[in-house]
Amino acid sequence: MDYVVAFVSQKGGVGKSTLARAIAREFQRNDFRVKLADMDIQQITTVNWHARRLNAGLDSVGSVECFRTYSEAKASAGACDVLIVDGAGRASSATAEIARDADLVIQPSAPSIDDLQPAVLLYHELTKLGISRKKLCFALTFVGTENEEALGREYLDHAGYNILDGCLEFRPSYRAALTAGRTITETSHKSINKRADSLIQSIFSTLQGLATEETMSKSEVEAIS
Ligand SMILES: Nc1ncnc2c1ncn2[C@@H]1O[C@H](COP(=O)(O)OP(=O)(O)OP(=O)(O)O)[C@@H](O)[C@H]1O
Ligand SMILES: [Mg+2]
Repeated sequence: MDYVVAFVSQKGGVGKSTLARAIAREFQRNDFRVKLADMDIQQITTVNWHARRLNAGLDSVGSVECFRTYSEAKASAGACDVLIVDGAGRASSATAEIARDADLVIQPSAPSIDDLQPAVLLYHELTKLGISRKKLCFALTFVGTENEEALGREYLDHAGYNILDGCLEFRPSYRAALTAGRTITETSHKSINKRADSLIQSIFSTLQGLATEETMSKSEVEAIS
């Protein structure tokens, strides 16, 4: 498997499933074999969404399944190029296991202090467990204004974590797209799709950056030994 990308959060309803579905579609369009793992076996938001998508005659985004444990998800993704983990509602003991194994961890958060504070605490806990902060990223979601985005960036930057370029604005049309089995890059408004796509593309470039860094550090180790 080439990549594991995981969406986690301290709070629920922050946009994990929304971003996981969009990045799954993007990988699928780029000919990756995708496993999209829905870790919330009670809500099965992403599994249900995929059924709506297929019923609407839209393209599959890959193999979408729900799993009780991360190890089951990982084992079932053996033949895939990328495993996308749509984490369960709130952080749990499984969050550290997922974050440890993932190449890139994305925590969506709205740009208000009420949301940012607990989100940063979750990443502090993960770094205390020895998980590299290099792979812990934030995605700003439910953004209302440019000023809000700027304040969110400032807060997270100060906390010392990476923030993806772009953000997801609060828009009823994103919700409508998801209801119809579409992704946030497939709404009926081109400009809105473009805004969402810039965030999705920044997930790709961050992942590639981390992979290149890893290959370089491995070759440095080999050169020394
Ligand atoms: N940018 C947005 N604008 C408007 N609505 C949005 C936006 N992003 C997500 N939503 C809606 O907000 C709700 C929560 O989003 P989502 O299901 O992606 O969150 P989640 O973090 O996966 O939630 P949970 O913690 O319950 O798994 C959904 O109804 C979704 O359609
Ligand atoms: Mg979800």
